[in-house]
Amino acid sequence: MTDQERFPEGFLWGAATASFQIEGATTADGRGPSIWDTFADLPGTVLGGDTGEPADDHYNRYPEDIGLMRELNLGAYRFSIAWPRVLPQGSGAVNQAGIDFYDRLVDALLEAGLQPWATLYHWDLPQTLQESGGWTDRDTAEHFRDYSAVVAEALGDRVENWMTLNEPWCASFLGHYHGVHAPGHRDSVEALTAAHHLLLGHGLATQAIRATGHPSRVGMAHNQAVIRPHGASAADARAARRADGVRNRIFTDPVLKGVYPADVKADLAEVTDFSFIKDGDLETIHQPLDFLGVNYYTPEWVAGSAKGLDPATVSGEGSAWLGADPEEVHVSQGLPVTHMGWEIDPTGLFDVLQRLAGESGGIDLYVTENGCAFEDSVADDGGVHDPDRIDYYESHLRAALEAVRAGIPLRGYFAWSLLDNFEWAWGYSRRFGLIHVDYETQKRVVKDSGKWYAQLAQTSRFPNR
Ligand code: FCB
Repeated sequence: MTDQERFPEGFLWGAATASFQIEGATTADGRGPSIWDTFADLPGTVLGGDTGEPADDHYNRYPEDIGLMRELNLGAYRFSIAWPRVLPQGSGAVNQAGIDFYDRLVDALLEAGLQPWATLYHWDLPQTLQESGGWTDRDTAEHFRDYSAVVAEALGDRVENWMTLNEPWCASFLGHYHGVHAPGHRDSVEALTAAHHLLLGHGLATQAIRATGHPSRVGMAHNQAVIRPHGASAADARAARRADGVRNRIFTDPVLKGVYPADVKADLAEVTDFSFIKDGDLETIHQPLDFLGVNYYTPEWVAGSAKGLDPATVSGEGSAWLGADPEEVHVSQGLPVTHMGWEIDPTGLFDVLQRLAGESGGIDLYVTENGCAFEDSVADDGGVHDPDRIDYYESHLRAALEAVRAGIPLRGYFAWSLLDNFEWAWGYSRRFGLIHVDYETQKRVVKDSGKWYAQLAQTSRFPNR
């Protein structure tokens, strides 16, 4: 193996999780309900009626989980903080027991030699705030700032790396337009309003973290979609531009450039007058960032119409994305898929890193999520043999290495996920972990992919297979 095959010195190896997906203990020590508790309790929202209990009971088992992170040779762990543990009502009284949990977690991580990377919002909005409109209410952005200040004050002497939001597109559009995530609404104006307030919250939280005076690096974990036109027609190119606008540029242009894209505003002029954007908001949103987190799983292909296409490959008819013309659709390419049905194409990871390196002006990039679900089970020999997952990781990490060699400032990689966990609307049916979890017994088994990743993290070279 040549040195060309090695990741650079100091490249950070991590794994990621999110509070609601792993913690369980949803009523312990004064935690208030979140919108995901409420949503999961409604019939028909989550596959199999699964809820945030028991998840991985990580709230009680975090010492064991940190032991496993050490076995995996991780240098960093990306986790999220549950807002309703810290502020059960969303604002006002701080629940010290909630802070204490993250205090213990951070101390234990540092003791084990791991860098804590904290996400402030991975979708578990306190239910009380939802009752006054959630992210469609402008005040929520200010509550998010205040909550971020509380957390950054409490942990900022030990946590240096912060991500404000995880995937604002999911929180706004999947939650308020497609209705498949909490709070489960289907309303274009709500989705656009929520998106703006999430971005405003990002800007305010960034300022609040820095105002603590603790040394900090602030970024966001963004799921930039890789949108490709299916064919060469002008209609397909137009569909790709429009989808890219509402999936990507509506978030990255305000954050990275301080503007909303003119074509998106024009495309959506009949949906909203954008009066939720107030004077000064874009300046607040456009804070200089220390790094950008990129979450990548799969690319998407779009077409201007389904005419002439194999109907089995087409989806999203009627409303493929917010503001789509009714004829515009998604088109699958017949590539191998994961258990999510997501097509596997590592070239998308290279493309997204290249594009964001260009748009973010040379700040550090981290892959803050990348990984795959497959139908794993514990074999008779006690192991979990998941060669498909190793293939997925290896091919995507080869694309990441190619990006590094091309001069893209990619500084680290977080696998999604450390543990099998509650995969939102799919409940416990989709397993993304490097570590298998038996939800009945809470027994953890490091999968073959976890052992492979441990070798990679130790040597920064691809293990022989
Ligand atoms: C991302 C989410 C993460 C996880 C993965 C599979 O969109 O950020 O919580 O569910 O997808």
